[in-house]
Amino acid sequence: MFNLLNKKVTEHQTEALIVGLFEENKEGQSEYQQLNDSLNGQLDDLVKSGDISNQFGKISKVHTLGSIPAKRLYLIGLGKRSELTVGSFRKKIGPLFKQLSKDGINNASLALDSLIAINEEQRLNYIEAIGEAIAIAPHQLETYHTDREEAPVYLTNLDMISEEESGVAQAADTGYALGNGTNIARHLVNLPANLLTARDLAAFAENIATKHHFDIEILDKEAIEELGMGALLAVNQGSHEPPRFIVMKYQGKDQWESPVAFVGKGITFDTGGYSIKPKDGIVGMKMDMGGAASVIGAMDAIGHIKPNENVMALIPATDNMISGHAFKPDDVIVSMSGKTIEIRNTDAEGRLAMADAVTYAKQNGAAKIVDIATLTGGVVVALGDQVTGAMTNDDQWYEEIQTASEQVDEPIWQLPYLDVYKKQVATSHIADINNSPGRKAHAILAGAFVGAFAEDTPWVHLDIAGTAMAEAEHDLGPKGPTGVMARTLAKTIINAK
Ligand code: BES
Ligand code: MN
Ligand code: ZN
Repeated sequence: MFNLLNKKVTEHQTEALIVGLFEENKEGQSEYQQLNDSLNGQLDDLVKSGDISNQFGKISKVHTLGSIPAKRLYLIGLGKRSELTVGSFRKKIGPLFKQLSKDGINNASLALDSLIAINEEQRLNYIEAIGEAIAIAPHQLETYHTDREEAPVYLTNLDMISEEESGVAQAADTGYALGNGTNIARHLVNLPANLLTARDLAAFAENIATKHHFDIEILDKEAIEELGMGALLAVNQGSHEPPRFIVMKYQGKDQWESPVAFVGKGITFDTGGYSIKPKDGIVGMKMDMGGAASVIGAMDAIGHIKPNENVMALIPATDNMISGHAFKPDDVIVSMSGKTIEIRNTDAEGRLAMADAVTYAKQNGAAKIVDIATLTGGVVVALGDQVTGAMTNDDQWYEEIQTASEQVDEPIWQLPYLDVYKKQVATSHIADINNSPGRKAHAILAGAFVGAFAEDTPWVHLDIAGTAMAEAEHDLGPKGPTGVMARTLAKTIINAK
């Protein structure tokens, strides 16, 4: 995909040459100057006339009409060099790669040093961001239109022209692998629930595992019963579809010791059960396996990048349906941990499935746990659709995830995990814990419920109910599933030493 070439941009033959344009100093930009000279000063003329803009995010396409070997220039305005960050850069180059895709270009080149100065401190992070943007920005979701136009064109080759070698191609590869993980998560969330049952999700995970030679174990209903996962089974009780519990392991250390556990909510469809959702609230609930999707996407990225850490991906998978067999409000169930749970609301099903998965993680030696779930409407009210809600019982583990989330620009914000909330969750007249203490602060209470099963194991909770879906097309992707947190999870593991 990425080739590093040390040559003159004016001598490079390509369909499309991407050139960055900063506001301050045209003079300081040698690639621009070389191209301008080769084109007899015509680039300067186009800048003057406003046909080319250095304004942040502006894309200008220039045909060279045979005057240099590069057929077209794609100039991208990057604004003021001093104001650029990796995050703003990633967003601004997204539309450029969408444009290339629309223009049907699968093989392009990039005057790397015009976008990122060689002496830039964060140079490799910028390059990683290019890899991410190439994968995620032009990505199109599958549809089932029978009159669908041709398949989208994506870049399959990018020549990066630069004076400097070290680490460039590797950083771009890493970013590209992270981005592809995001796309896998998007794809899974996009699949309708009739095409993605718990068994289908398990089969998909199995394919990923085979591709990367991961250990994988798919627990069927009998195995789940044997382990006593009463909470997951309660959610599944109303369904004709059997549940699955997916265990995927990546071993990056010599020994299988102290793995990090990723726990992803895999509710393939959430009707709410007998605490049924209103008809408008049910639409879209195929996305309730967004946590599982991000975990699978992250594992794919990890499989490519091969970091030195052990990871155990755990996915409790089922739909939440209604039938004569379904669980009901007032039921009391026994979780895998032995804790008894009073069911007050069958629509608070995610935390039930997650509880048993967290217990499984602990019983199988997880040193740290991060759970990720489309868990509550409350988090959408609190933080909106751009920021993922987080909770933790361990500041250090939180900081690792927070750092990664900043690096890939998937913001998270911590909600308080205080004793008052823990107490509310632990208040039930009939059982150890109750699955829905009330409406107030219910995003926090849901997290606290999961936290009650993590106990003292370092734990971070990520509620992506707001961030898993984009209402409209955005700089780095289409309307619909975002695949949020796939990159953050993988990046957390890459960062671990
Ligand atoms: N899957 C939903 C949460 C959700 C809501 C995800 C909107 C995406 C968009 C979850 O299972 C749920 O129903 N949560 C309830 C909790 C309540 C019953 C305490 C909610 O948020 O209303
Ligand atoms: Mn629900
Ligand atoms: Zn749900």
